[in-house]
Amino acid sequence: MIDATVELTIDGQALSVPAGTTVLAAARQLGIDIPTLCHDPELTNPGSCRLCVVEIEVATAGGMMKMRNLPPSCVTAVSPGMVVRTGTEAVVEARRTVLELLLANHPKDCLRCERTGRCKLQTYAYEYGADFPLPGSALDGERRHDPLDDGNPFIRRDMNKCVLCGKCVRVCAEVQGRHVLDYVKRGFATTVGPAFERPLGESDCVFCGSCVALCPTGALVDKTKAGKGRPWDVRRKVRTTCPYCGTGCNFD
Ligand code: FES
Repeated sequence: MIDATVELTIDGQALSVPAGTTVLAAARQLGIDIPTLCHDPELTNPGSCRLCVVEIEVATAGGMMKMRNLPPSCVTAVSPGMVVRTGTEAVVEARRTVLELLLANHPKDCLRCERTGRCKLQTYAYEYGADFPLPGSALDGERRHDPLDDGNPFIRRDMNKCVLCGKCVRVCAEVQGRHVLDYVKRGFATTVGPAFERPLGESDCVFCGSCVALCPTGALVDKTKAGKGRPWDVRRKVRTTCPYCGTGCNFD
């Protein structure tokens, strides 16, 4: 019989969670922040971006602790006696490498990108000290040059900014039931879009916007809001006596 609850330790804090809980979900219960790009709690999760890696020691049958090799926490289930460390040097270095690999094939136009300030890739790159590769360095190489899909009034697709997290694919299929988006091509040329590489405006897309809402970068942009000001500039502001920020709270 499977234990209903599992006891484990994360960053020195003991906790008990239902069996089947992922390490990511357990860490979040403790308020521990683990970066994610491809994970979404409402969708199936492929564990593909590898940004959420952690150090894990698991108890073996002989009672010894055995280190697992930086597994992704979003698809790793807790086990009894598991010891998790989320911020070791090896974990930080692995996450920085993942981010630098993504930046190596990403446009350098963050300053004028519609998503700047709200881009998860940008936020994590800043947090982990990851940067675009220097010319001639090991990660400096070929980049994608996918055409911009801008021929409809609602969504602009720039797949050069896509990190292949696949959340747009899954929300379109699993939540909206449309199956308009999917992975296209293979290897370095892999991208995401409608079948036969048709533009969005010529597909069965109903422009619900779910894919735009989940996109972690500027690959999918809502054209109806683009260029009309950053959200923090155009939100309604109110006077406040709050002693912390002194600038007034922002409302959506
Ligand atoms: Fe876990 Fe992407 S968030 S692998």
